[in-house]
Order: sequence, then structure tokens, then C-alpha cells
Amino acid sequence: MTSGVVSITICALWVDCTSIMPAENDTSDCILVVGVSRPKIAAAFLTIALLSLFLTFHILYDSAVYSLHTTTVIGTMDETVNDRDETQQQIDQSPVMISNTAHFSLTNRYLPQAIIIGVRKCGTRALLEMLFLHPQIQKAAGEVHFFDRDENYEKGLEWYRRKMPYSSKGQLTIEKSPSYFVTPEVPERIRAMNASVKLLLIVREPVTRAISDYTQLRTHVATASTAITVEGSPRPPQSSRSFEELVIRADGSINESYRPIAISLYHNYMHRWLEVFSREQILVVNGDQLIEDPVPQLRKIENFLGIEPKIGRHNFYFNHTKGFYCLRNETSEKCLRESKGRRHPRVSPIVVTKLRKFFSIHNQRFFELINEDLNWPE
Ligand SMILES: *[C@@H]1O[C@H](CO)[C@@H](O)[C@H](O)[C@H]1NC(C)=O
Ligand SMILES: *[C@@H]1O[C@H](CO)[C@@H](O)[C@H](O)[C@H]1NC(C)=O
Ligand SMILES: *[C@@H]1O[C@H](CO)[C@@H](O)[C@H](O)[C@H]1NC(C)=O
Ligand SMILES: *[C@@H]1O[C@H](CO)[C@@H](O)[C@H](O)[C@H]1NC(C)=O
Repeated sequence: MTSGVVSITICALWVDCTSIMPAENDTSDCILVVGVSRPKIAAAFLTIALLSLFLTFHILYDSAVYSLHTTTVIGTMDETVNDRDETQQQIDQSPVMISNTAHFSLTNRYLPQAIIIGVRKCGTRALLEMLFLHPQIQKAAGEVHFFDRDENYEKGLEWYRRKMPYSSKGQLTIEKSPSYFVTPEVPERIRAMNASVKLLLIVREPVTRAISDYTQLRTHVATASTAITVEGSPRPPQSSRSFEELVIRADGSINESYRPIAISLYHNYMHRWLEVFSREQILVVNGDQLIEDPVPQLRKIENFLGIEPKIGRHNFYFNHTKGFYCLRNETSEKCLRESKGRRHPRVSPIVVTKLRKFFSIHNQRFFELINEDLNWPE
């Protein structure tokens, strides 16, 4: 585009000088001749030519310096990076020179090499934060929801890549979106991105998970209905229905279509993943053990991801006030919030026993699929 400007200027200069010059004159002296005969016009053309040349190189130089700058300096300044996404995109897409510059850069955004696909309420956030203690791991901020939401998936892989953090060669980029696990289209879509991607699936004992799910849903409904009441149109709060009422049908059977129960039927979703990916590509993490004693679980994960074992006991301490692990690296500390601070309701032991019995056969199916027994209570 910029070189177009330059050639147009040269052209104009050319046309002008042939029109004033005698035909027998050597055209290579064109500028000199113009300089003598019409000094003002010549000066104007020269200025334009020089200006456009200057602008061309200025733009190229700027973008080269910019891409070096962003890739070396910005890594940690996430806000700034997001603000500059558009500029970064233009640079990424310009075909010449700049792409060569990118090879020198220390950091860049890469598509994830590993994805935490779920399960919701099983500790996906805790798992990601724990892995982030490792110097070779970079994590995407928030949940990207690229593969499960059509409106995001339509934006394409380049959009997805720009949601990823900066990382250097040798580092792994990890993303987590718990609803990937239960969304039918997702396994195929992930395979289309990278057929050898590594997948992490964290699961908890299904009854515990269902209660935790119910607790979160209830909190959300409660918050929503409060908001409605404030607006002046009170509604009968659905949230008042207990876990037991929602889970057990009138005839005493378990309501399998109640979402917190449905999602805990892991085998219903797992088989889809195993139709698309090999078993070796999916690591099943025991979420109950990860919370109780994180280091041995993390050792397995480091091994699976092919990174050096670096996360150790020194990265964790137990806060007795919170009753939960806190994470620390060399520079900072972060405490995980168990169930985001929500207390689980007391569920009738009879219902828990009933649910455990109900899940027992489903758990067996799941264990057969993954070829691993997680020893959940029956
Ligand atoms: C695909 O995933 C594998 C496993 O994480 C990784 O080694 C490889 O670099 C990825 N390929 C691309 C193109 O990102
Ligand atoms: C089962 O759960 C679904 C979803 O929450 C609900 O629509 C349905 O009414 C429940 N069925 C019974 C019999 O409670
Ligand atoms: C533990 O958590 C409590 C509550 O958030 C906090 O006030 C306290 O400083 C923490 N203790 C340690 C040792 O981090
Ligand atoms: C330590 O953790 C903080 C926040 O989790 C992160 O910003 C920082 O880069 C980490 N430092 C190191 C040396 O890994």
C-alpha cells in the first residue's frame, strides 16, 4: 500500500518532466532539468517524494519496533496487551518483513497445547491456578468458551489465539472452559485445531459435585430473584426448592434430567471424547485428591504434559481460618476459595445414600471407559 504511494509520486514526476522537456534530452537528467525550468513545482514533487519515502520507512520501522516491544516487554501487562489487540492483529496479518521480525521475538501468543475441558464444579479453577505455579505454564485469563459457543467459534482460530497469553518457546499455554466437556460439538472442533492436543479432565465424586452444582445454581437464582424484587415485580423464588425436592421424583426415583445430576453422569459425555481422541491424550485428574493433597496429583500432570517436576510442597500452605490451601510462588500468594465461599446445604443422608447407589452403576461405566477405578464410595 505504501509502496503504491511512492510509485504514484514517481509517476507524476515522470509525466510532468517529459511534458516540459525537449524530447532529445536524456531522461535521466529529468529532475535536474525540472529543477532549472520550474523550481517550485520540482521542489514540491521532491518534497512529496521524500515525504512518502520517509513515511513508508517510518511505518515499517514503527511496526517492527512495536512488535519487538510488545513481544519482549508486555508479557505481564495484560490490560495493555488487550488494549493493543487490534494493532497487534494488523501487524500479524501484514505479509512482508514483519513476520520475519516475529521470529526474533521472545514471546508470542500460541494456541493452547493443553486444555482443561471440565468438569464444572470439580476444581477446574484450582487446577489451573496450581499449574500456573509452574514456570513453564501460561494460562488464559478467564474462560474463553471458544469451542462450545457458536458465536465465538465462528470468529475463528485467530480470534481464539488472540485470547491466549503471551508465552515463550518451551512454555505451554493452557485454557480452561468447563462446559467443553458436556457440549457435543466440542471434541471434533478441538481435534480440528490440533489432533494431538493434551486434554485434562478433572472429576469429583458425582454426588458431591451435584450438590456443589445445586448450591451454585441456587445462589444464582437467589441473586437474580433479589434483583427482580428490587425492580418492583416480586416473583415466587424458585430457589426455595431443596436439593432433595429437585432430585427425587414423586415416585421416589432419581430425576436424571435435573442438570446437576445429568452432568455428574460422566460416562454420557466421556464416550464422545474417546470417539475422537485416544485415551492417552486425556488425563483424568481426581479432583477430590487434588484438593486434599495436591502435590502427587500435580506430579502426574507435569509428567503428562512433559514438563519438569517443579511444583512442590513449598508452593502450598494450609490456611486454617479458610480451611483451604493457599498457593505461593516466589513473588506472590493466592488463596483458593472453596466453592467460592459458599457453604453446601446439609443434604439428607438418606438422599445421599440413595444417590450413591444410583450413581454406582454409572460410575462403573465411566471407570470402564477410562480404564481406571477412582474408588468412589457406593
Ligand atoms: C499440538 O499439541 C501438541 C501437544 O501439546 C503440541 O506438541 C503441538 O505443538 C501442538 N501443535 C500446534 C500446531 O500447536
Ligand atoms: C426433572 O428435572 C427437570 C429439570 O430440572 C424438570 O423440568 C422436571 O420437572 C423434573 N421432573 C420431575 C418429575 O420432578
Ligand atoms: C488466612 O486467611 C485469613 C482469612 O482470609 C486471613 O485473614 C489470614 O491472614 C490468612 N492466614 C495466613 C497465614 O495466610
Ligand atoms: C507468581 O504468581 C503471580 C500471580 O499468580 C504471577 O503474576 C507471577 O508472574 C508469578 N511469579 C513467578 C516468578 O512465577
